[in-house]
Amino acid sequence: MSETFTGSFTQQEPIPEDAIEAALAVLRHGRLHRYNVAEGEAGETALLEQEFAAQMGAKYCLAVASGGYALATSLRAIGVQPGDNVLTNAFTLAPVPGSIASVGAVPVFVEVTEDLTIDLEDLAAKADQAKVLMLSHMRGHLCDMDRLMEICNAAGITVIEDCAHTMGASWNGVLSGRHGAVGCYSCQTYKHVNSGEGGLLVTDDDEIAARAIMMSGSYMLFGRHLAAPGPEVFERVKYETPNISGRMDNLRAAILRPQLRDLDTQVERWNDRYRTVEDGLRGTPGLTVVERPKQEIYVGSSIQFLLLDWSEDAVQEVVRRCAARGVELKWFGTPEPVAFTSRYDSWRYADTQRLPQSDRILAGIIDMRVPLTFSLEDCAQIARIIRAEVSAVYQSG
Ligand SMILES: Cc1ncc(COP(=O)(O)O)c(C=O)c1O
Repeated sequence: MSETFTGSFTQQEPIPEDAIEAALAVLRHGRLHRYNVAEGEAGETALLEQEFAAQMGAKYCLAVASGGYALATSLRAIGVQPGDNVLTNAFTLAPVPGSIASVGAVPVFVEVTEDLTIDLEDLAAKADQAKVLMLSHMRGHLCDMDRLMEICNAAGITVIEDCAHTMGASWNGVLSGRHGAVGCYSCQTYKHVNSGEGGLLVTDDDEIAARAIMMSGSYMLFGRHLAAPGPEVFERVKYETPNISGRMDNLRAAILRPQLRDLDTQVERWNDRYRTVEDGLRGTPGLTVVERPKQEIYVGSSIQFLLLDWSEDAVQEVVRRCAARGVELKWFGTPEPVAFTSRYDSWRYADTQRLPQSDRILAGIIDMRVPLTFSLEDCAQIARIIRAEVSAVYQSG
């Protein structure tokens, strides 16, 4: 009898009790809007920003309605105009090119490597095509950030980091989101902290921070922020910065603050699970494990492997056979966008660009969530199932 996995790939852990208590306190006093504070009260959202700025070693932080909103706000705050080109990864998810399109700018895609990171040679070759790079650390894979910043600094490119999958990760001792001008994080249920929806943005730049705060819908209440530049900076930008409301509220902030305090522990738990799956997959014929560089501290909240140069039918057969045994895999080669998964050529509002190297790699990328509700035994079982099914299809080919 072959074994079947019975767990749920979309089941996250419950919200911790201290976060539930904090949320109940907000519900009981009723001041959910971030600027609705009692005399002497800072408010959960302002405190969240202050604490996250300190955790990331950033001067400023803004909490917003979603990660995608943080990305679009960053583009606006650094002055991207309609019609401008913005470089970005070919391997990412729809909210990333979507944020570029939302400001009327044009995504220019950069190839992906077999390490699942942005191709730095292709980036260098395209560096004269844009003044901004929206760098997506897709599925938590960090490229050589030292080299990337050299390329971008030399070309005068401003970097916005999409850290939706790298909250808590670092490259060479520098936290993800702290290399570029702005770091953007998502607090949506499937990310590293869970408030249902939500986003955070960090920067050290006075004017980017002031503009982002005003855009998020601060009216003239920016003085209530605790991780913001001084009033003189707002004086410079307040008449020319539109209000594009996308604030966070005190209820979500209350849920997030205790979770952020636990982030390091959660990262270790994710990585224990990731390494258990990875160990179980290593050495499977036809399957390539994505090796992680020693400079990278990652957060294994999902795992990817490659079935490089396999036929479409064979990859689909693996996905089908694993699904039949309870293991949910996503394939980035699928020609039609499915659920959260899409490819650069699904985003037809962007100019059609042909990226042959990315086509080959995307056609081989298999992706799997690793929720913390899985035990290490679950992870070992999942790896056994994948190994058996990949081997069976590979041998029959
Ligand atoms: C790579 C990536 N960037 C950005 C986002 C946007 O985050 P949000 O869902 O909070 O808007 C997501 C969300 O899935 C994502 O996967």
